[in-house]
Amino acid sequence: MLARNALDAIGSTPLVRLEAFEPQRGAQIWLKLEGANPTGSYKDRMAASVLGHAMACGDVRPGDRVVEYTGGSTGTALAFVAAVLGLKFTAVFSDAFSDSKRLAMEAFGAEVLVEPSSGGAITPELIARMKARAHALAAEPGSFYADQFGSPQVRRGYEAMGLEIAGDLDRGVDALVAAVGTGAALMGTADGLRKAGVEPALFALEPLQSPRLTTGQGGAHHVEGIGVGFDPPFLDRSRLQDIRVVDQDRAFEMCRRLAREAGILAGGSTGVNVVAAIELAREIGPGRRIVTLACDNGMKYLGGPIYRPPGSSP
Ligand SMILES: Cc1ncc(COP(=O)(O)O)c(C=O)c1O
Repeated sequence: MLARNALDAIGSTPLVRLEAFEPQRGAQIWLKLEGANPTGSYKDRMAASVLGHAMACGDVRPGDRVVEYTGGSTGTALAFVAAVLGLKFTAVFSDAFSDSKRLAMEAFGAEVLVEPSSGGAITPELIARMKARAHALAAEPGSFYADQFGSPQVRRGYEAMGLEIAGDLDRGVDALVAAVGTGAALMGTADGLRKAGVEPALFALEPLQSPRLTTGQGGAHHVEGIGVGFDPPFLDRSRLQDIRVVDQDRAFEMCRRLAREAGILAGGSTGVNVVAAIELAREIGPGRRIVTLACDNGMKYLGGPIYRPPGSSP
């Protein structure tokens, strides 16, 4: 494959059937391997959408500075896309998030401003401080606020994922199951499927340990990227068939199983997705197809609780 630049490596990810994980007399389960994107996450799709659109509209020009506050994957994707497009990128980050993410952003040439946390805790006060700093920077001349929680281009960036799935499965998709942070990946993928004439039942997922969408009460959990503690700005509840909770411990065990039995190394949100897909496959039975997402590559989680479960040797 010839590419104009590294942005052409975004998307067209493999869709793999998890036959060995399907319950007997259950539906088929298909997993979209989004860890195959350049920075190892489906966030590359939204970063390319937001910044590509801003360049095309003249909202940013080469040499301008993009600003966002971020805990990691989105910042890495924005840093990557900004590098390709000749833009500067400033991330407002914090020492509450993993240092490898800071290093990844810096490797792509980003400026990373670190807001100090109190003992590494992610608190509403810290997030508010990061947001205020990003807003102040974005108001300076020659700056552009990426707006990962508000820009319509975020959700639009995932439409291609829906089109790819519809094409690969010849439009035979009965359900789409995905854990939600902002809700953009689930809704954008559903928008793409709809454009291809496919209307699967949509299931949004959240951690059992933080059941804010299902009970109104959030909590502490360890599944990065989801259960963000506020209403997912892109989630359209009227289009959902259901919102379900998945126990993070079962999700992490599923991640380990996926690695050992399918060679798929992914993060905790992927474990959530596959646990829920297996349950749904049992419910809806044979002859149906469920699609879910492997949101990112698991390499960045190797030192954490997913691949080093409690009681295991360091
Ligand atoms: C690893 C991971 N999984 C899932 C999500 C949720 O995606 P979305 O915000 O599009 O709902 C994110 C978003 O940050 C993520 O980083």
